[in-house]
Amino acid sequence: MDNKFYITTPIYYVNARPHIGHAYTTIVCDMMARRERMLGKDVFFLTGTDEHGVHVERAAQAAGKPAQQWADEVSSSFRRLWDVLGLSYNKFIRTTDAEHKRGVQEMFRRLRDNGYIYKGKYTGQYCVFDELYVDSAGPGAPCPECGRPTETVSEENYFFKLSAFEEKLLKLYRDQPDFIRPETRRNEVASFVRSGLRDLSVTRSTFRWGVPVPDDPGHVIYVWLDALSNYCTAIGFGSPDPADQQRFQRYWPADVHMIGKEIVRFHCVYWPAFLMAAGLELPKTIVAHGWLLFEHDKMSKSRGNVVRAETIVEAMSRDALRYFLLREIVFGQDGSFSFDALVQRYNADLANDLGNLASRTLTMITRYFGGQVPYPSPTEARKPADDEIAEIARRTISEFNAKFEKFQFSHALETAWSLVSAVNKYLVENEPWTLGEKQDDVSRARLGTILYTSAEALRVVTALAHPVIPESSARIWAQLGLGEIVNFKLAELKWGQLPLGTKIGKVEPVFPRADKSVVEKMQAMEQERRTPTVETEKKAGAAAQPAGRAVEVKPAPAPAASAAGAPATTPAAKAGAGPPEGKISIDDFAKVELRVGQVKLAEKVQGADKLLRLEVDLGSETRQVVAGIAEAYAPELLIGRKVVIVANLAPRKLRGLVSDGMIVAASVGEQGKPVLAGFLEDVPVGAKLK
Ligand code: ME8
Ligand code: MG
Repeated sequence: MDNKFYITTPIYYVNARPHIGHAYTTIVCDMMARRERMLGKDVFFLTGTDEHGVHVERAAQAAGKPAQQWADEVSSSFRRLWDVLGLSYNKFIRTTDAEHKRGVQEMFRRLRDNGYIYKGKYTGQYCVFDELYVDSAGPGAPCPECGRPTETVSEENYFFKLSAFEEKLLKLYRDQPDFIRPETRRNEVASFVRSGLRDLSVTRSTFRWGVPVPDDPGHVIYVWLDALSNYCTAIGFGSPDPADQQRFQRYWPADVHMIGKEIVRFHCVYWPAFLMAAGLELPKTIVAHGWLLFEHDKMSKSRGNVVRAETIVEAMSRDALRYFLLREIVFGQDGSFSFDALVQRYNADLANDLGNLASRTLTMITRYFGGQVPYPSPTEARKPADDEIAEIARRTISEFNAKFEKFQFSHALETAWSLVSAVNKYLVENEPWTLGEKQDDVSRARLGTILYTSAEALRVVTALAHPVIPESSARIWAQLGLGEIVNFKLAELKWGQLPLGTKIGKVEPVFPRADKSVVEKMQAMEQERRTPTVETEKKAGAAAQPAGRAVEVKPAPAPAASAAGAPATTPAAKAGAGPPEGKISIDDFAKVELRVGQVKLAEKVQGADKLLRLEVDLGSETRQVVAGIAEAYAPELLIGRKVVIVANLAPRKLRGLVSDGMIVAASVGEQGKPVLAGFLEDVPVGAKLK
């Protein structure tokens, strides 16, 4: 039998810091990895960061940092978080690693050598903002991702013959129904493929932040081909070193690719097609889970409603977060996160149910049996209730395992906790604390049986729950006198194995109750954390960017949006003295220097459909400003017009031109059409707005 288990998370974009949405996927994988290790498998658990492409390049530019430095910082914040969470990953891959880049080039070469890559001309709609080809759209149609108008482009690229895989993919989904889980996702993917596949452009020549195409370095490899290849490169694909090649042989194909539902198409259509084309085996299962919502909205960096896992770990514990995510969210579906629900779930299931079972059982064994697990009575002191618990426990083990195999984690935990409830009820009904006060033999035998039964049930639940709550289960295990839980072989778990006479360890509470103040503490921590982060990043950005140094940025399609966004990124003044959350002080506003300018010259920028180069008179000086307003204004109509300029913005470079200031415009309608700000009365050039 195959004794290895290779599991992967998506590699996360380094365009923003991690939040508990990312932690969710990684915790689920960690839990599965721990379980497989307990089952005796040789586990390889991979996670990492996806660092190339235009999204990341833009995030770096927005922070005023070189892309590599930005990627280093954000990547290490992911890694740090996984360490704070105590995750047991075997490798953390970065797509900027030299070995990965070499492997991606090897993947590209294979696709090309096998005849699946050709150089072609793409003529059609393209979204500059998202670097996305919009095949289905007609001229001027909006981008399906961002709603901005697409441009008609004609450019030379390398294409992958995705269209050749339509039938093969449909056959794969039919023959291997577990290739995509759950079934709803499989159906979506299959119907997408049935509707027809077009060849895929797998290189870009409009930016440099990526892996160069072998033998044609003017092109970089499409970020998804780059990113997906990580699953192979991380375990040695593309390396000349025999040890690496052996590792690849050992672990590939992956047993589980765990992903969020929004990236199913990339993993279930593109990835198997790339692998087939490269002549590599396909992963066994791709599992897509739902979204974590924060009080009903998808948690995302752009919405700003993210919750950081560190807060929960600090105020509660790693296990509290893990248990909540796995028990409260029905795996596969969307689920809501809230601090209230977290504390409620923790108190009910951990502090009360499991915590009580452990402390009652262990305390009574200490008090009545000198800390040694008593003997269950074989005969006269036995009651049907004892055998019932044994029976429920046996059933729990098999049901728990069966549900786990089907990725029904919350149901599996529900099953385990119904054993906990049954034992707590059994204790209440059989009152061992009353028996403990009696000295006769029958009472002693009865007491021994009850405490043995509940200690054994506690052992069973603890073993099953270990992958989910590794730290607290390890403590309960040690208190049961069983030593190190990691040495336990889960496959051997059976009722009745708790050795009689086991000397239990020091009994200590494992799940202290969390009261209302914990919720308030976490909320306050989240608020505080948000403010200094912006502050620190701004400082770091300023340090990384000497005054006056121009930074290469992409044309912003709606400059008004960026201008209007400026105050929002201004950090609120220091906690306590400053304005309320979400507001800025008058001093913050005063930092933005807005002035009346007059357009002296306006012309189109070569090769950029959206940009105009303006020369604007600010009274004391004339500035060059590059603005993304070409689609809304003919240049000749702008000359002489009075406009509002953000005059103290650090200069930036757009398409090689320095833009020294920003023109203020309203962003109108779904497509963000810019409409320039102006005045009804006549105003002198250079006047300050305040
Ligand atoms: O898509 N709820 O990276 P990404 C649940 N780099 N899961 C969430 C979540 C939420 N609110 N937010 C994020 C990418 N996730 C690519 C992947 S793989 C070869 C390349 C998790 O930073 C979830 O696993 O956008 C989702 O699929 C992943 O983070 C997306 O991370
Ligand atoms: Mg995403």
